[in-house]
Amino acid sequence: MWPDHRLLDLFKTEFPIVLAPMAGAMDADLTIAAAQGGALGSVPCAMIPLDKAREQFNIVRQRISAPLNMNFFCQKPIEADPARMAGWKQRLAPYYRELGLDPTAPVAAAKREPFDAAMCELVEELRPEVVSFHYGLPDQALVRRVKAAGCIVMSSATIVREAIWLEENGADVIIAQGLEAGGHRGMFLTEDIAGQIGTFALVPQVVDAVKVPVIAAGGIADGRGIAAAFALGAAGVQIGTAYLRCPESKVIAPARVALAQARDDSTVITNVMTGRPARGVANRVMREVGPISPDAPAFPHSATALGPLKAAAEKLGKVDFTNLWAGQAVRLGREMPAAELTRALAGAALARLSRMAG
Ligand SMILES: Cc1cc2nc3c(=O)[nH]c(=O)nc-3n(C[C@H](O)[C@H](O)[C@H](O)COP(=O)(O)O)c2cc1C
Repeated sequence: MWPDHRLLDLFKTEFPIVLAPMAGAMDADLTIAAAQGGALGSVPCAMIPLDKAREQFNIVRQRISAPLNMNFFCQKPIEADPARMAGWKQRLAPYYRELGLDPTAPVAAAKREPFDAAMCELVEELRPEVVSFHYGLPDQALVRRVKAAGCIVMSSATIVREAIWLEENGADVIIAQGLEAGGHRGMFLTEDIAGQIGTFALVPQVVDAVKVPVIAAGGIADGRGIAAAFALGAAGVQIGTAYLRCPESKVIAPARVALAQARDDSTVITNVMTGRPARGVANRVMREVGPISPDAPAFPHSATALGPLKAAAEKLGKVDFTNLWAGQAVRLGREMPAAELTRALAGAALARLSRMAG
């Protein structure tokens, strides 16, 4: 019934739908629920230590026998530049004072470690069916080890050049991440945010440029979007934002309100929160300091000085300094259990595809 079976054959899931890994916004509960609904469940590992990643993966494995995706970041690490960090702290000092915090107090570093040998050992130990990366791919030796462990390798491309590079360097599946997508842009061969491409234009160009199956991501939140992705040549979809309001996500209450109230034009791409461009619902610090600021230290160091502000504001029920990562289709999100949502998305897509065929 699906126009393209390549991903179903590869993943052995019921539907060609991937629950996007969403570091910081979810844990095993959402993975389990989406997988129970027939999607490929993802375990985001970019913001948690190794033992926690193992624990999360094992929680999911114990509950369901469905195939799973482990997701990692693989940026080239950049050391924090003390002068930039000091300047950033100074830029944020008025907010510290407003919240009664000491801007000179030492702050814990923001941790988002790239995929390394230890993480690779964990993959070899746990053997997820799929491993996905953001920001390119790790070193060739690590990619070979992941593949030797029997894992299908996926990564995001935001321009055609990145898709070709990923295919040449071992990706089995490419996620074409359009500009509409929530969260960090997976861009790794370009820094040109203004040149980033919408899903509708990106997917067919990536499909034409590579032989491996392409997953469409960005702005897909209902059956119409999924059907459109297949019409554009995608073999499946990766959906993040539409799952954020599910009861199983770990989005905190005030952020849920912000998501529920968001309109079509509420999200922007910002570098203020982490130093890398990412799309989210505009909050106070994004509006007042950004959304793009030349002062923001390199990824992930911008987040370091924001940590105490985020914690203090959240105690007051405010999300002025909280990552509200979400895509342009945020308003299409529904408050619905994730298994039910997955089945509803697949059902609506199939109904639309068969109407289009008739
Ligand atoms: C809250 C949130 C967190 C995200 N975190 C990650 C992540 O940890 N790893 C990753 O590869 N992609 C991450 N993404 C991006 C998704 O993989 C995907 O590209 C995006 O959700 C697709 O667009 P959509 O949000 O419009 O569905 C995140 C997206 C959101 C909304």
